[in-house]
Amino acid sequence: MTIVTHTTQPFDGQKPGTSGLRKKVTVFQQPGYLENFVQALFDGLEGAQGSTLVVGGDGRFHNRQAVQTILRMAAAHGFGRVLLGRGGILSTPAASCVIRARGAYGGIVLSASHNPGGPDGDFGIKYNVGNGGPAPEKITDGIHARTQQITQYRISDAADIDIDTLGEQRIEQMVVEVIDPVADYAALMAECFDFGAIRQLFASGFRMRYDAMWAVGGPYAKALIEGVLGAPAGTVVNAEPKEDFGGLHPDPNPVNAEDLIAHMAADDAPDFGAASDGDADRNMIVGRNFPVAPSDSLALLAAHATVAPRYAGGIAGIARSMPTSMAADRVAAALGVPCYETPTGWKFFGNLLDAGKVTLCGEESYGTGSDHVREKDGLWAVLFWLNVLAATGQSVEQLVRANWATYGRNYYSRHDYEGIETAAADKLMAGLRAQLPQLAGQVLEGRRVKQADDFGYVDPVDGSQSAKQGVRILFDDGSRVVFRLSGTGTEGATLRVYLERYEPSVDKQGEDTQAALAPLITVARSVARIAELTGRKTPTVVT
Ligand code: G6P
Ligand code: ZN
Repeated sequence: MTIVTHTTQPFDGQKPGTSGLRKKVTVFQQPGYLENFVQALFDGLEGAQGSTLVVGGDGRFHNRQAVQTILRMAAAHGFGRVLLGRGGILSTPAASCVIRARGAYGGIVLSASHNPGGPDGDFGIKYNVGNGGPAPEKITDGIHARTQQITQYRISDAADIDIDTLGEQRIEQMVVEVIDPVADYAALMAECFDFGAIRQLFASGFRMRYDAMWAVGGPYAKALIEGVLGAPAGTVVNAEPKEDFGGLHPDPNPVNAEDLIAHMAADDAPDFGAASDGDADRNMIVGRNFPVAPSDSLALLAAHATVAPRYAGGIAGIARSMPTSMAADRVAAALGVPCYETPTGWKFFGNLLDAGKVTLCGEESYGTGSDHVREKDGLWAVLFWLNVLAATGQSVEQLVRANWATYGRNYYSRHDYEGIETAAADKLMAGLRAQLPQLAGQVLEGRRVKQADDFGYVDPVDGSQSAKQGVRILFDDGSRVVFRLSGTGTEGATLRVYLERYEPSVDKQGEDTQAALAPLITVARSVARIAELTGRKTPTVVT
């Protein structure tokens, strides 16, 4: 075994997006592509010599090869130890948990989250820092800058190691410890929730369907829900992780998890439905014939937080991404705690969580989480719901409707226009930005524009600034239309249009969401000239 230095040349576009570097598998398969990125990452780490690195991924195609490369490079960089999930597997929240539980220097998570996998699918790599959360922008910007100047990388020429057997092996001076990917995470969940109450719920005949979407959440959900909590075998379906997610799109929303939605709409539907995504950090909650909007889920968990042992003393505050509905703001106000509004991207919650300013966080993109780790956490959200269902004895629908009655309903929907041309998308956003100065005061479809701007954020903890985080049109009656381009896609551009209307009156809370938002949908399409600039009359995904 020796450490070798290879000469290399920069690749274009190694710039981490909303959540790490995501590209087609074929891009990652180019010789030197992964190596360059990892070298650029390692070159920026100070004091990592002899320290511990956590490595794992969502098990998608190319995960196993990438793990071997990263291990050999970590050995060449002088890490003392790598904690590797067995089979190269760690869900994103479990990776965050292991980094924190074992006091690691940081971790590398291999995932393209909810994007499809397989030889023609997507792959991704993300670096998480010692608090367990995604690296902040100053680190990812540094990585990107170094990828543009890189001339060489260092790697051990050791043979592949066995990543499927628990225990310790060595590459050069570095120890590779293959760990059980579920154990640390399961122990943390047992501290968060009232497992006794949830066990009783299942023992009383409560029925659930958890759709793991052939992704990494399967082994975690099986171990906890069917194993520890005693739900009947078969409660967790599509539980075996597949390299291509069974050819499906592992994104838990009503479009991509339509099978779960169909089961929950059937006559013999179970009491509770849930799904998680490729790397198990997202979640979707469904009652009997009643999908729950992620923004409503955050508000509801906040309102009921004290039923869970970890949050029994109350919550310090809530954070939500700017496009997420303002339902949580009303719960926060009632609880007398602050609600922070951040740009899209879980990394923006890290400082607020570390500083103890917030306990719960959530995003409209089916992400919910808390200060127990520094990633969003799909299974955690599902267990939290189970805890609330067990403690209240109410159904999902009863709970959500009661929350609306107390705080008002924020009708909410997101319209995605996927795979549009980048040039057209940029033109559309530029067109919106150009209109901003004239929009305030205008009346659109009967609503007066109170304010129109491009959302900017100043981190209240470290003062760092993020500009141009989404164009907002805010109306007098509290309604909003928000436009931004996705930062997680790998092909063309995706325009996201977020629509929201507040309805305080209980007798007007039963409308169909799209009908309730129709005037705002019209405003969005005409102000942004969507059909004219993109050639699309309707969105590809509506959540
Ligand atoms: C990932 C991130 C989230 C983000 C979501 C959508 O899941 O972790 O923080 O909300 O992607 O991001 P996008 O830029 O595609 O809207
Ligand atoms: Zn994910």
